[in-house]
Amino acid sequence: MAGLGETLRRKRLLIVTGKGGAGKSTIAAALGLAAAGLGLHTIVAELSGQSRIARSLGRRGAGMHEVELAPRLMSISIDPREALREYLRLQLGALGTALMASRTVGYLTAATPGLGELVTIGKIWELARRERRTGRAQGYDLVIVDGPSSGQCLALLRSPATFAGIARAGPVAGQARAIARMLAASEVTGVLIAALAEELAVSETIMLCEQLERSPGMAIDGVLANRVYPRRFDDEDAHELARALDSTPDLPCRTALRAALSQHVRREAQEQQLARLSAATKGHGALELPLLPGRPPNRAALETLGERLVEGGR
Ligand SMILES: Nc1ncnc2c1ncn2[C@@H]1O[C@H](COP(=O)(O)OP(=O)(O)OP(=O)(O)O)[C@@H](O)[C@H]1O
Ligand SMILES: [Mg+2]
Repeated sequence: MAGLGETLRRKRLLIVTGKGGAGKSTIAAALGLAAAGLGLHTIVAELSGQSRIARSLGRRGAGMHEVELAPRLMSISIDPREALREYLRLQLGALGTALMASRTVGYLTAATPGLGELVTIGKIWELARRERRTGRAQGYDLVIVDGPSSGQCLALLRSPATFAGIARAGPVAGQARAIARMLAASEVTGVLIAALAEELAVSETIMLCEQLERSPGMAIDGVLANRVYPRRFDDEDAHELARALDSTPDLPCRTALRAALSQHVRREAQEQQLARLSAATKGHGALELPLLPGRPPNRAALETLGERLVEGGR
């Protein structure tokens, strides 16, 4: 599959979602490094107050403060309560500051379904605007969001349209509509889906693709099959390996042969799932991302993953 180099250059907002544990944060970090390497002023946004990406690149997260991870690469961690505080301060000035200091903010986010999502996506929108009200004044070329898992991400993406429908008039409705417009503008916003070549993960990915396709304007820019084993042997090689295993009594040799055969079997199982994925997600195809060394993968491994994401290939 073609790489994402063009997508990184063209879009202003990319949201990485997918099944829990499929590699969303790892892919968002690798994309951030790759985009900055292409010369784009980039910010990676983590949600729900997480700062794993900043830590994986050797920096301490600073919440809603934008911190530098590498040249041209910044990070932010968006917490819904902090995002609401910032919104109130910007909208209401002194009154907002007074509200911020009270416990109202906590009650408000807890008691209003969808408000946490709305202020989170509102902050993401603010980061992606050319004219910023906070932080880096000129705005960023690209905002990469380490998004929540599939279902929660759909709720996040739909929250502005839902609020605009409920509020109808007034400043909140107006802003919610502006956010919904940006999310639906496929030349600006895109979604990347992290998947694993496993049965359940593939089923979840197919469902998510269908749901996103039903959401007006929501563009899927890539399905990324993560942690794929390399194809080292063909069937003939595997046959030879099995024969050698039958005939050698040497223990270290048998261990190595077993490891090689087991990797071949896992790769074959992954290929079946990759075929399912590409049949179901027709237009999109899946970009295969390799299993990286290191637990967790270090910066060099993330840079390698970033190159793969930009250049593509099978
Ligand atoms: N290509 C890869 N090669 C090796 N390890 C990987 C790869 N991608 C992710 N991992 C590891 O797999 C685990 C899950 O990855 P990650 O945290 O990026 O997933 P996630 O989708 O963000 O998870 P969550 O849903 O919990 O946020 C981590 O330990 C990560 O270091
Ligand atoms: Mg994550």
